Amino acid sequence: MMNPQIQDAFNEQLNAELFSSYLYLSMSAYFESQNLKGMAHWMRVQAQEENMHGMKFFDFINERGGRVALDKIKEPKTEWSSPLDVFEDTCKHESKVTGLINDLVDLSVKEKDHAASAFLQWFVTEQVEEEATAQEIRDKLRLVSDNPVALFMIDQELGQRGVPASGPART
Ligand code: FEO
Repeated sequence: MMNPQIQDAFNEQLNAELFSSYLYLSMSAYFESQNLKGMAHWMRVQAQEENMHGMKFFDFINERGGRVALDKIKEPKTEWSSPLDVFEDTCKHESKVTGLINDLVDLSVKEKDHAASAFLQWFVTEQVEEEATAQEIRDKLRLVSDNPVALFMIDQELGQRGVPASGPART
């Protein structure tokens, strides 16, 4: 049987990952409304990645004989003042998620759940990448300010982001 505290915490994190997916999809919709197709694509791929993160928790809970409990997904923000505003929020959000993952690691150590600790290491590494990528884009946007040509070029660049191969399927 799965440790009940770990099960509850993992179900909460499953919800948090699905919220991340929802938030990035909302950012994608914002970029679509601004006709920034490359950024809209980047955020849509990010939303898919977050869904995949959620499914990793979904699968792990089931594999450990736990019970997945889906909860309501919070309504995401829908409006931003600029692309920079979106990526400032993305950085803040990812930093918050890193905190949640670190708390889960602490809990798994406290509960001596080694399988959960090992599982969470993937997320620890992933968060380093997620934060670095978001910060890199945010920093570029800070540099270009509202220069339309530079913004167009960043939009083009973000439009090149590849679609994850694994998708939301079982991993
Ligand atoms: Fe699932 Fe962006 O953290």
